[in-house]
Amino acid sequence: MRKKIIAGNWKMNMTPSEARELCRTLLPLVKDADTEVVFCVPAIDIVPVAEEVKGTNIHVGAENLYFEDKGAYTGEISADMLLDSGVTHVIMGHSERRGYFHETDEDINRKLRKALEKGLTPIVCCGESLEQREQGICFDWVRMQIKIAFRGVSAEDAKRVVIAYEPIWAIGTGKTATAEQAQEVCKAIRDCIRELYGDDTAEAIRIQYGGSMNAGNCRELLAKPDIDGGLIGGASLKAEFAEIVNYNK
Ligand code: PGA
Repeated sequence: MRKKIIAGNWKMNMTPSEARELCRTLLPLVKDADTEVVFCVPAIDIVPVAEEVKGTNIHVGAENLYFEDKGAYTGEISADMLLDSGVTHVIMGHSERRGYFHETDEDINRKLRKALEKGLTPIVCCGESLEQREQGICFDWVRMQIKIAFRGVSAEDAKRVVIAYEPIWAIGTGKTATAEQAQEVCKAIRDCIRELYGDDTAEAIRIQYGGSMNAGNCRELLAKPDIDGGLIGGASLKAEFAEIVNYNK
């Protein structure tokens, strides 16, 4: 049985003091969750959030990392820095980072291997644009993203990865994929992992859906056999996040 994982992606929201306040609002609401709960927060919020959630069921995640260990990479943050600050999970390859900051599939592959080497849980994002969906290349596109991201990753390590399927047209638009559309691609991703690594890894790896998931649509999405959780943007910044975390109560 794969444990469901619900991760908030705060993106570039919440100053450190606002972050503390949001933690205080959410903590009592999510403390009895039987899902794995992660707050993925801006780098500057990591330390205050880690202090607020210490000793609770909440995991702290970062929104990015750099693949080198240390050195002259102005503005970047290493895996060791994240670990030393209490981070356990890290998002990589989000479509906003691919689009605005020109992150490539090769970069994401290096980030994935570094996170695994250091013992972080990677949340690897993939997903097609509306144009690609209309061109009928959604499955090919997502399979390509996965195949490059996982190059050089062993079957054992791959089991520790979380994949987030996030159709770009559904992110921040209020236009959620239907549960059927989301399931169909999440299944294709699991089949791709099966081709690469075999049944054991395919059955162990967790695949989230992301893109306008909210308290109203989460139950239908999370009921699908290949959807093992959610990556939540807008709805992670308010009490509504707790309703998603507690979707099964
Ligand atoms: P959204 O963002 O829930 O606001 O659509 C999801 C994401 O980008 O991870």
